[in-house]
Amino acid sequence: MFSAVDYYAGDPILGLMEKYKADQNPKKVNLGVGVYYDNDGILPVLECVKKAEAQIANPVKARPYLPMEGLAGHRLACQELLFGKGAKVLEENRVATIATIGGSGALKVGAEFINQWFPQSKCYVSDPTWGNHIAIFENADVEVGKYPYYDAQTGGVKFDEMIAFFNTLNKDDVLLLHPCCHNPTGVDLTQAQWDIVLNLVQEKGLVPFMDIAYQGFGEDMEADVYAIRKAVDMGLPLFVSNSFSKNLSLYGERVGGLSVVCPTEDEATRVFGQLKFGVRRIYSSPPSHGGHVVDIVMNDDALNAEWVEEVYAMRDRIQQMREQLRAVLESKVEGRDFSYLTTQKGMFSFTGLTPEQVAKLQSDYAIYLVGNGRMCVAGLNTNNIEYVANAMADVLK
Ligand code: LMR
Repeated sequence: MFSAVDYYAGDPILGLMEKYKADQNPKKVNLGVGVYYDNDGILPVLECVKKAEAQIANPVKARPYLPMEGLAGHRLACQELLFGKGAKVLEENRVATIATIGGSGALKVGAEFINQWFPQSKCYVSDPTWGNHIAIFENADVEVGKYPYYDAQTGGVKFDEMIAFFNTLNKDDVLLLHPCCHNPTGVDLTQAQWDIVLNLVQEKGLVPFMDIAYQGFGEDMEADVYAIRKAVDMGLPLFVSNSFSKNLSLYGERVGGLSVVCPTEDEATRVFGQLKFGVRRIYSSPPSHGGHVVDIVMNDDALNAEWVEEVYAMRDRIQQMREQLRAVLESKVEGRDFSYLTTQKGMFSFTGLTPEQVAKLQSDYAIYLVGNGRMCVAGLNTNNIEYVANAMADVLK
């Protein structure tokens, strides 16, 4: 009966993690998946999360189904982080927000909504983008196209080409945008470039869908949402998917959110209802533990302040690793520019290594990068950085 079922080749990012786990080399280094490890190579449990979990555990509570849209405190946390505490758009009740199963769940519910209510819309993603963006939208029967983004020659953005491309799109086409810490390149737009993009979005009647999985890892909590707040100020309709996997180090709890900014409260009410209906059809309602952690940490002033500091400590350690790797590589490899390591933002660096060089790093050194040359800098630490730099210098020879 199942002989016609295709074999699955595996996911380019998650499959790499499985391969890394099975590798017996004691020197192995995981620079593949977008996960933050501390300087000892340990996945941290944030102090603010430990305190929230202590509250959840004592006394032990019953686990009813959550509402389809998730906990009110989780949803409020998403809204205040993205749009700002007391933001006018929140006071006007123009944002429909649901808690979701990670950022991927938000993308899925959003993509299904677009397919149902805007069946003519195509979704355009940056070239390159996180591979799952394409998979999730296509799986929701939304046609996906690519817009020019990364310029391998300059290590920057093909800005003029991108703008020229946006000019060719149709009203209601969706633009999947990364407000900060672009995945996989780490190359972000400047605020001035965002202004130009968003003016064009408004002029052409395009619909921005901003996927933010790394808030706090770029500049800071506020600067990282510049594009989101600017779009709201301009009165644009807007989809935002956000994730707490990275900035709460809650990967396995699958906590995120989907927010849709609407022109009026009535529209937001309709959209909210349809998002709930969408959730009901896909997974009924979200799980509760991660939602309670988000609710407690984000809505308690002291825990929230502690959380922000912990995120900044992760961000700063990544930055130190960027600087150290750049310095060591510059001392070992002549005639090659490594400045991208310190200008790119967030967890990822697009190294420019070819698939062959990435394969050699894996086979000869047990160093795991994604095949497109993406390195998760957060997997570097003071114990493995010299080893990684030497290996990179070797494959670059
Ligand atoms: C990544 O890009 O590595 C992360 O977002 C994890 C994933 O699900 O791919």
